[in-house]
Amino acid sequence: IDLSDIDLSDVAFWERPMTERESAFAVLRAQPHPIRFPEPEISFAPAGPGYYALVRHADIIEASRNPEVFCSGRSSTSIHDLPVEFNEYFGSMINMDDPRHARLRRIVSRAFTPKMIKQFEDDVQSEATRIVDDLIAEGPGCDFVTEVAAKLPLKIICDMMGIPEEHYQTVFEASNVILSGGDPEFIDDVSRAAELLLGAGQRLQDLVVSLADAGGDNLITSLTSANIDGEKLTMQELGSFFILLVVAGNETTRNAISHGLHLFTENPDQRALLAEDFDGRIAGAVEEIVRLASPVAWMRRTVTRDHEMNGTLYREGDKVLLYYWAANRDEAVFTDPHRFDILRTEGPHVGFGGPGPHFCLGAHLARREITVMFRELFTRLPQIRSAGEPDRLRSSFINGIKHLACEF
Ligand code: HEM
Repeated sequence: IDLSDIDLSDVAFWERPMTERESAFAVLRAQPHPIRFPEPEISFAPAGPGYYALVRHADIIEASRNPEVFCSGRSSTSIHDLPVEFNEYFGSMINMDDPRHARLRRIVSRAFTPKMIKQFEDDVQSEATRIVDDLIAEGPGCDFVTEVAAKLPLKIICDMMGIPEEHYQTVFEASNVILSGGDPEFIDDVSRAAELLLGAGQRLQDLVVSLADAGGDNLITSLTSANIDGEKLTMQELGSFFILLVVAGNETTRNAISHGLHLFTENPDQRALLAEDFDGRIAGAVEEIVRLASPVAWMRRTVTRDHEMNGTLYREGDKVLLYYWAANRDEAVFTDPHRFDILRTEGPHVGFGGPGPHFCLGAHLARREITVMFRELFTRLPQIRSAGEPDRLRSSFINGIKHLACEF
């Protein structure tokens, strides 16, 4: 593959076979400077001047450590500067900079410490047990994504938020639309993409308003009672915070679990290594799944002032995409980077983001969910394996699996 054959902004790139994508990123990492790509055309926002693709581990670590220059405030989740009406639902802390970002993050961060996650352990365990009970009752095969991987994170984030079961489907469908990146299964008509996205945002916002009235001891009431600089969160802030948490807490972990089963199926030697010492090796296995899956393929930053980093000059206003997916395969850091190796010690990987203020708030929770799910699956269904190729999400942003047949 040569450089002229690579266009990261074309969603078709992400449908090329994995080996081609891996070679393409190796070509990009070998360039003396990051390459600038055009912004993909979307119907509801003008294309800007393009963006730099940061693909080396060292660049991504460095940019993450320097949020004053590489800021999130002009959007971190969209290449385009979106029209203002999107702020109503998506203007959350992930698209903000400190000090406001830090103030908002503090409101919820206590709920995500290892100590608090421990309190949710029973909940994670009982849901994983129930999922596997259902599988055994219905066997001997299923769509692993909908019957297993999607269920655990959805249930846990909904419990944390105090969302009753009757609303799970709304949360599931709305997060699919928001993170689908234009997959026709979720956004069937691109000319209506803005309408569908805003509609999904509105449904979640209506839900949080009704739940806030219901009270209780949960993350929503922590949000509604929080004070920032003596002020309560506005309805817009509450809604977009809620949307961030339910969307981020849902699909990413689902994709990690699905990729995990597929990786273990394709690498029986690694599965055998895990089985020899599950408790001693599962933590490393979870990190290795997140590294190779990189469920969040990239996040965006915008350059706040002219700045040189690792020999490249960035100009104020430049957009850069931090390709976590590519940094996680950087041969300068990871030996034999495409190999699934649960005993790997190099790193750190950047699957949960780089070392900076936006590092994934839910990392402890996600690790716990993945651990418990695989313990339950591999102990009670030692034969479980994926069957055939995953049906992948058509997205350049989320490395998602929509469906994955499995047998046990
Ligand atoms: C941020 C990945 C699970 C909540 C992030 C970021 C990444 C990421 C890459 C960094 C954003 C940036 O650089 O701008 C993942 C992956 C997960 C996962 C791969 C699963 C394997 C979760 C879960 C939650 C969560 C379970 C729970 C609610 C968040 C939030 C942020 C975030 C709220 C924004 C933090 C901030 O802006 O300060 N995640 N995540 N994530 N994640 Fe996760």
